[in-house]
Amino acid sequence: MKEKLEQLKAEALRQIEASDALEKLNDVRVSFLGKKGELTSVLKGLKDVAPEERPKVGQLVNETRAQIEEVLEAAVKKMEKAAREAQLKAEVIDVTLPAKKNEVGHRHPNTIAMEEVERIFLGMGYEVVEGPDIETDYYNFEALNIPADHPAKDEQDTFYISGDILLRTQTSGTQVHEMEKGKLPIRMLAPGRVFRSDEVDATHSPSFHQIEGLVIDKHITFADLKGTLAEFARELFGEETKVKFRPHHFNFTEPSAEMDVSCFKCGGSGCRFCKGSGWIEILGCGMVHPNVLRMSKIDPEKYSGFAFGMGLERIALLKYEIDDMRLLYENDVRFLKQF
Ligand code: DAH
Repeated sequence: MKEKLEQLKAEALRQIEASDALEKLNDVRVSFLGKKGELTSVLKGLKDVAPEERPKVGQLVNETRAQIEEVLEAAVKKMEKAAREAQLKAEVIDVTLPAKKNEVGHRHPNTIAMEEVERIFLGMGYEVVEGPDIETDYYNFEALNIPADHPAKDEQDTFYISGDILLRTQTSGTQVHEMEKGKLPIRMLAPGRVFRSDEVDATHSPSFHQIEGLVIDKHITFADLKGTLAEFARELFGEETKVKFRPHHFNFTEPSAEMDVSCFKCGGSGCRFCKGSGWIEILGCGMVHPNVLRMSKIDPEKYSGFAFGMGLERIALLKYEIDDMRLLYENDVRFLKQF
């Protein structure tokens, strides 16, 4: 038995000596020390050894194992060290070379404008929410008091996925989602993407963005709407900004209005920017129609509210004096870098 072990050890050491790669050392480990390895099979043969001899032979097996392990470990360490040294030699780093310039990107003008609008309304206690890009006819039209066959639907001719499912034409459906949650009061701002089958030109795109606002509480009046939106305009375009409300029609508000701001370029005297009128149209708004409240299970006798919606691109174009909407989508770095 002793001889057998000596032989095994000598063979293991010879193989370790001959190994020129870590994988080969691992093979040696498996074939001698592994579960099905040579030493293990010697241990299994222990039952044939006379009982009084067993402890001695067992100890001998363990010693042999320890010796092989030790030599193997040393060989592994040596080989790893050599590999690391070779790698360090191969990868020379010249620390005197100038560093690579790190190009840091920055926000898109649409994003800058959106975050500016959000900042203003967050400051007034609004919450920012999001609605789905794909809507059912109910949320996009019906629940906003736009019944089937109403001409207001034609104006927003859009992309239908099926008879009842469409890419939303306005963020106003988010109002309904928010009201349906059943938590009052509501002060929400809902920015998002909308879609209409419009031809591309300097002021139109089949996909653009809107920012929707909704407030529902007890005793909300048109005075709240005016005060809020006037303050918004002053924060966005400057302290001197005046606002004017023109009567308009939206199905989901009554009364409805469009809000103009005094031209921040000429201060209202008329210039190329405001096409000589002194005013710039900025958003649609109104008092939430009682039908809309009722459809979303809110009692119009107890609650009232106002809503507004604006085009994000329009705000970005105005604020940064960009004269073609297409520039916002072309991702030309020379353009984007300017903001
Ligand atoms: N959804 C309207 C549109 O796309 C904009 C709008 C007008 C939203 C009045 C409103 C509102 O919330 O009260 O033209």
